[in-house]
Amino acid sequence: MTLVGSAQATSSSTLGDVLEIRGGRPLTGQVDVKGAKNLATKAMVASLLGETPSTLRDVPEIRDVEVVRSLLEVHGVSVSEGDEPGSLVFDTAQAKSANFEEIDAHAGSSRIPILFCGPLLHLLGQAFIPDLGGCRIGDRPIDFHLDALRNFGAVVDKEPNGIRLSAPDGLHGASIELPYPSVGATEQVLLTAVRAKGVTELRNAAIEPEIMDLIGVLQKMGAIISYEPNRVIFIEGVDELHGYDHRSLFDRNEAASWACAALATDGEIFVKGARQYEMLTFLNVFRKVGGSFDITDEGIWFRRAAKPLKPVMVETDVHPGFMTDWQQPLIVALTQAEGVSIVHETVYENRLGFTHALGQMGADIVVHPKGLDGAYRRVARRELEQAAVITGPTPLHGADIVVPDLRGGYAYVIAALAAEGTSRVSNVGIIRRGYEKFFDKLTALGADFDIVG
Ligand code: EPU
Repeated sequence: MTLVGSAQATSSSTLGDVLEIRGGRPLTGQVDVKGAKNLATKAMVASLLGETPSTLRDVPEIRDVEVVRSLLEVHGVSVSEGDEPGSLVFDTAQAKSANFEEIDAHAGSSRIPILFCGPLLHLLGQAFIPDLGGCRIGDRPIDFHLDALRNFGAVVDKEPNGIRLSAPDGLHGASIELPYPSVGATEQVLLTAVRAKGVTELRNAAIEPEIMDLIGVLQKMGAIISYEPNRVIFIEGVDELHGYDHRSLFDRNEAASWACAALATDGEIFVKGARQYEMLTFLNVFRKVGGSFDITDEGIWFRRAAKPLKPVMVETDVHPGFMTDWQQPLIVALTQAEGVSIVHETVYENRLGFTHALGQMGADIVVHPKGLDGAYRRVARRELEQAAVITGPTPLHGADIVVPDLRGGYAYVIAALAAEGTSRVSNVGIIRRGYEKFFDKLTALGADFDIVG
């Protein structure tokens, strides 16, 4: 077997970082999906804005939550268990500035620290944000964030290890149009505008369900935010916000991942906690590819209906389009579809690199680094677009693979479970950034694997 995977993956291993997977068995059973990584972490940052304690419920046990918890704690926020399992209470009464070393020691692997800017400026008049981590799936610049903060009146100084921000005259409402409906930049504007003086108008905002849930959190805290047609959000700044009590939106990215695992391994998985509304777009594609699903009040059953699966053309996009975080496990399933499928990645410029390892496992995937012209497109062509052309069905066989990033890593584990033979998957620790109790869930679904490193 050859060692394949992204060159960007690290080679350092800790216990639980290497799996030996014996594939070829369907995944069958139930998994529970808790709060969304991409909401819970932002709601935790929002707690900084409240003058009384906040309670967040259904907080997932993932690495990104641990990172944000540590960052809150170094800023003097006390974090304790709430009144039910999975709930956390954040008390900002003793919030304070932290020094560079403390912040840097805790921020390394995540992109969430950038969202501390507005709340820290309101609370302390200054903020230091170290160089950001997160998955290496493109350049991932922060220009939209910094431009927005400057519009609010923040002074941004770039330093060798990060950026220092101050607001000598306080922050005021602003008129901002994002060049692209960025999730993070929209959150940045929301978290800053709610306590800025005056009204903020944000145009070309992201409207993902996680953003709407964050707006819900902020409204519970006393914010005045209206969501208008055509991606416009108005925020009337208020002088004071209080704590919230909120149950996080479920993690629709995790739900979609398990749905694709059922497709790829020809299994049947009940995803408890998944809801239809936030997954409408995914469910349409799931059905077109030959999956079937049953929606209940408690969750959604996912299974393969067509044998073999059917090819599709998918373009990733901002909400309500097909999420960029859904394409990786879908591509694993598409290797088992009869015919040619095309996946256009339009959100990030480097999010198809993970497919190289699938090729080593027997998949027929050709990546066009500059996308494909010609065919009818629903999503406007973006300069950074790539396209993967997947021809199937191709049997997959075991290989030694190195996880490159969170979603790509999940896809590798599913590919190894669908493949005949044994695979060794390294660097799986990254998957803990976004998938709660990952090994326990695999075991509950009947996966045959050992932790070997
Ligand atoms: N962009 C810029 N400048 C900026 C910000 C973004 O050019 O200042 C570009 C990005 O490079 C990218 C596009 O805008 O091409 C969209 O990025 P966005 O800001 O929307 O992404 P993000 O906020 O950094 C969040 C999620 C991602 C998810 C995207 C898209 C979190 C912590 N991360 O990232 O989740 O893919 O939105 O929905 O919320 C994941 O969960 O694995 C993950 C990567």
